[in-house]
Amino acid sequence: MAVASSQQGKGIGQALINHALTYLKTHNVDFVVTYGDPNFYSKTGFQAVADTQLIPPFSLSYPHGWQAVALGDKPLSELTGEVRCVLPLNQACYW
Ligand SMILES: CC(C)(COP(=O)(O)OP(=O)(O)OC[C@H]1O[C@@H](n2cnc3c(N)ncnc32)[C@H](O)[C@@H]1OP(=O)(O)O)[C@@H](O)C(=O)NCCC(=O)NCCS
Repeated sequence: MAVASSQQGKGIGQALINHALTYLKTHNVDFVVTYGDPNFYSKTGFQAVADTQLIPPFSLSYPHGWQAVALGDKPLSELTGEVRCVLPLNQACYW
């Protein structure tokens, strides 16, 4: 996720996230998970999730960045299990 540095701070990042969340909600996705700065993601409804509740593919350098948002009726407490990662990001150094 990135916005051109000359255009940051204008709400574009939040608009992109909200657009994606709306799309996923219409496709009946229950939860969306991210690993990023809570100062940004909390603005679009993401909340911290423990890495013991939702197990990441690798040990997290910044556990407070492990976050999720519920899009449907299920509470975040139902979000459990182990997360798998797409191949290009499936390296411990990125986590
Ligand atoms: C993070 C990023 C995508 C946000 O996009 P944006 O269009 O600038 O964000 P918005 O204008 O919608 O939201 C701005 C708010 O998010 C917060 N924010 C923006 N960039 C942030 C960052 N890098 N870290 C933490 N918080 C950030 C600011 O506190 C700001 O809040 P405020 O208006 O209350 O001051 C953009 O700054 C970026 O591309 N950064 C470099 C790439 C990056 O770090 N990506 C990983 C994101 S986890």
